[in-house]
Amino acid sequence: MNLPNGFLYPLLLFIQLPFCSSISTITSAHPVADGGVLVSQGETFALGFFSPRNSGRRYVGVWYNKVSEQTVVWVANRDDPLNDTSGVLSINGAGNLIIQSNASSTPVWSTNILAPLTNNSDSVVAHLSDTGNLVLIRQSTQETVWQGFDYPTQTMMPFMKLGLDRKTGLKRLLTSWRSPDDPGFGSCTCRIDPTGIPQFFLYKGSTRWWRGGPWNGVRWSGVPEMGNNDGFFKVTYVEDRDEIYVMDSILNASIFFRMVLDESGYIRRSIWHETNQRWVEIWSAPKDRCDNYGRCGVYSYCDPNQNLNEECKCLPGFEPKSPQDWYLRDGSQGCKRKRADLMCRNGEGFVKLERVKVPDTSVARVNMSLNAETCKDECLRNCSCVAYTSADIRGGGRGCLTWHGDLVDTKLYASDGQDLYIRVDSIELAKARKSSNSIKGTKRTLVIVTGPTLLVGFLLIIFYLCKRRPNIRGHWGKQSHRRMLLFNLATTHKDYPEEDGHDVGERNVDLPFFNLRDIKSATNNFSDKLGEGGFGEVYKGHLSSGQEIAVKRLSKCSGQGVEEFRNEVLLIARLQHRNLVKVLGCCIDGEETMLIYEYMPNKSLDSFIFDHTRKALLDWKKRYEIIIGIARGILYLHQDSRLRIIHRDLKASNILLDGEMNPKISDFGLARIFGRHQTQANTNRVVGTFGYMSPEYALDGLFSMKSDIFSFGVLLLEIISGKKNFTSYNDDPLSNLVKHTWDLWSEDRALEIVDCSMGNSWKELEVLRCIQVGLLCVQGDAVDRPTMSTVVFMLSNEVAIPSPKQPAFVVEGTMTSTCSKNEMTITMIGPR
Ligand SMILES: *[C@@H]1O[C@H](CO)[C@@H](O)[C@H](O)[C@H]1NC(C)=O
Ligand SMILES: *[C@@H]1O[C@H](CO)[C@@H](O)[C@H](O)[C@H]1NC(C)=O
Repeated sequence: MNLPNGFLYPLLLFIQLPFCSSISTITSAHPVADGGVLVSQGETFALGFFSPRNSGRRYVGVWYNKVSEQTVVWVANRDDPLNDTSGVLSINGAGNLIIQSNASSTPVWSTNILAPLTNNSDSVVAHLSDTGNLVLIRQSTQETVWQGFDYPTQTMMPFMKLGLDRKTGLKRLLTSWRSPDDPGFGSCTCRIDPTGIPQFFLYKGSTRWWRGGPWNGVRWSGVPEMGNNDGFFKVTYVEDRDEIYVMDSILNASIFFRMVLDESGYIRRSIWHETNQRWVEIWSAPKDRCDNYGRCGVYSYCDPNQNLNEECKCLPGFEPKSPQDWYLRDGSQGCKRKRADLMCRNGEGFVKLERVKVPDTSVARVNMSLNAETCKDECLRNCSCVAYTSADIRGGGRGCLTWHGDLVDTKLYASDGQDLYIRVDSIELAKARKSSNSIKGTKRTLVIVTGPTLLVGFLLIIFYLCKRRPNIRGHWGKQSHRRMLLFNLATTHKDYPEEDGHDVGERNVDLPFFNLRDIKSATNNFSDKLGEGGFGEVYKGHLSSGQEIAVKRLSKCSGQGVEEFRNEVLLIARLQHRNLVKVLGCCIDGEETMLIYEYMPNKSLDSFIFDHTRKALLDWKKRYEIIIGIARGILYLHQDSRLRIIHRDLKASNILLDGEMNPKISDFGLARIFGRHQTQANTNRVVGTFGYMSPEYALDGLFSMKSDIFSFGVLLLEIISGKKNFTSYNDDPLSNLVKHTWDLWSEDRALEIVDCSMGNSWKELEVLRCIQVGLLCVQGDAVDRPTMSTVVFMLSNEVAIPSPKQPAFVVEGTMTSTCSKNEMTITMIGPR
C-alpha cells in the first residue's frame, strides 16, 4: 500500500483500523503497528510505516504531516525493509525501540542501546518532537537515551546537528538514498571533515566531490551566496573541545525548510510553498565545473566565468607542471613553482588573490591570537608556510589561517569570496608590485575625477527637476511621479529588496553621467541609427577618446519609460559579467533619457542566425559557445550576482555579439529584481516578446526564473535550427518551432531541425544534448523546467539528462504594442 498524503492518512486508518489511529507516545503497552501513526504535539510531523513510490517494501519513517507531497525526512530501517504489513514498532523489555514482523522472530531494526533501563521499575517512552526528532526518554530521569537526529538520513532538518561529537565519537552525516524509491544507504555523503581545519564536504563514495570549505565566521568559504542573515533561517557553526557541528535554525516554525542530499550527490535547500503546494529550491551545490573538487590540480585556481578551455590558471609564482597537458585542457596535474630555488630566501613576500574559496584546509593551521599583520610575519618566518588568510572574516578579518602543504581546490568568484595571500619569491613579488602600482595610479585619478563629478551631477539633476514647474504629460503620467522616481535614483532606493541586512540600493551607483551636448556630438546628432531596441532607438557614436559607443535613446512614447529606465540604470550599474553588455553611462536631459553602452560590432544574434547568407558564418562550435555564453549570463542574473534578476525579454535580438562573437545579453528595461526568496511574481502588464513567452507568463502574467528558462529554451532551438519560433511548419498555422521539434523528437528524428548551413561542422551527440536541454526548458509546467545552473551543467558535462515532457505552445498570437495599450490574443496548446 502506498502512502497517500499526510492529511488523509490518519483519517483512512480511522475508518479501517479504529484502534490504532494516531497516538502521541509509544510505550511498551502502546506500540505502533503498520497502519498506525505517531503524531507530534503540534501535528507538524508524523511517524509510521510507509512505502516509497513504486515499491511494496515497508519502512518506518518520519514525514511532514501537513505537506501534501509525501516528504520523508527520516527512516529507521533503511537497509532492512519489511515485505508485508505485519510490522510493529514497539519498546522491548530491555528498553530499546525495535521493529518486528511476522516473518522473523528477531527484530529487523533496533536502537541497540546497551542499558537504557537501570532498574526494573523504570521504563522508557518514545515520542516525536515538533522538529521531526524521534526521541527515546528514560522515565525516571527524563533523560534522552537515544534520538533519531543522531542518525540523520538524507535530510538535514532545522535544529539537527551535522558534525561530530568528540566525546562519544558519534559522527552525524547525511547519506543519500539509494534511489528515489529505495531509502537504503546510498553512495553520497555530506559531512564535516575534521582534518586540519574542519570543512564541509560532499563525498561520492570515498571520493571528495564538492568542498564547501572551512567556516569563516560567517559562512562556509565555498558558499559565498550564503549570507548568515538569510531572513528566515540561520546557520550556526560550533567548534569546541566537545563537538564540531553545523546547525540550521528556523526563525518561524510555520515555515517548512529542509536540506536534502540527493542520489546524484547534490545538496539542496528548499522551502514548502503553501500556495503552490510544492517544494521550492532556494539553494543547491555544486553549481559549476569549478566546484568539482581539485579540478585544476595543485597550486592552481579555477575560474568558472572563463571559457571552458581557460578556466584553470596557475597561482602567482607557479607554472603548469605539464605544459602539454595544460594546453590540452587537462589541468589535473596542476602547477609547480617557477623558481623553487628562490624559496626560503630573502626578499620573499605575498601576492593577494581576491574573491576566492580558500584552498583545502586539511593542511592548514589556525592561530586565533594573530591579526592580519602578525599572521603575515608568522607565515613568512616559517618556510613550510605557503599561504595565509584571516580565519574569521568578520570585522575586517581576525585570526590567522596558514597552509603548510599543497594548495588544492581554490576557486575564483565573480563577487564575494575571500582574499588569499600566496607566498612568492622576490622576482614574482617585484612583478606584482609593478603591476599593482600602475593599477593603483589609474584608480586614484578615477576616484578623484568621478567622485565629485557624480555628486555634482546628482545634485544638479535634483535641483533642475525640483525647479521645473510640474507639467502633466500623458505618457509619463504625472510629472511629479517622474521627479520622485529620479529623486529616488539619485538618493536611496528603499523599494529594492534587502539582502545581507543592507539595502542593496545604498551601494554606490557609480555610473558616469554624460550631457546631451556630448552625446549629440558623439553620435553626430543621432545620424547613424543601428536599430530599434526595446523602448527606443539605438545610435552609434564615438567618444572623444575614440571609443565606439551605442546610445539607446528612450522613445518618448514608451509606456513606463522612466521607471524602466531607472530600472535599467540601477540594474546594469551593478552587473558585471562577460556575457552581459556593459553600460558606460547615462544621460538625462529634459525629456531625453539615454543609456550609453559599449558598442558591439557584430550587432545582434538574430542578424546572423536568421539571415540566409550570414548564418553560414556561425559553425556549430561557435553556436555552441554562444549557447553556453548566454546560459552563463542568465545564470549570473538568476543566481550568481548578489541580486536575483529576471530578464523577462530574452530573445535573439537582445543577444549582442562582440568582436570575437562572444554573446552579451542586453536590454534590461523589463528586468525585475527579485528578493532572495521570492520565486515568482505577478504583473498585470504582460510585456515581453511573443514567441519567447512562457505560457504562465503570457496567460496569467506570472513571471519567474522559469519563464526566462522557457525563453532560453526557445532561443536555444532557434540557434540550432536557424529558424524563428514563429515559422509555421507543414502548413499548419498552429505549428511552430517548439512544436515541430517536439514532434520530431518524439519520432527520434530531432536532428532534422539542425540548420543545414552549419555543414558537417556539428557532432550528433552534442547537438542532441542541446536539443534535449532546449526541450526541457520549454516544458509546459514551470516546475519541470530545470534551473539555469542545471542547464549550464547539463550543457557542459556528459551527464544523464532527463527526458523532456510535452512542451507548451503559445501560438497564433498578435501583440500590438502602441503607446496607449497592448493587445494580445493567444491560443494555447499542450499541457500547462
Ligand atoms: C510565520 O510564517 C507564516 C507563514 O508564512 C506567517 O503567516 C506568519 O506571520 C509568520 N510569523 C512570524 C512571527 O513571522
Ligand atoms: C612551521 O609550521 C609547521 C606547521 O605549523 C610546524 O610544524 C613547524 O614546527 C614550524 N616550523 C618552525 C621553524 O616554526
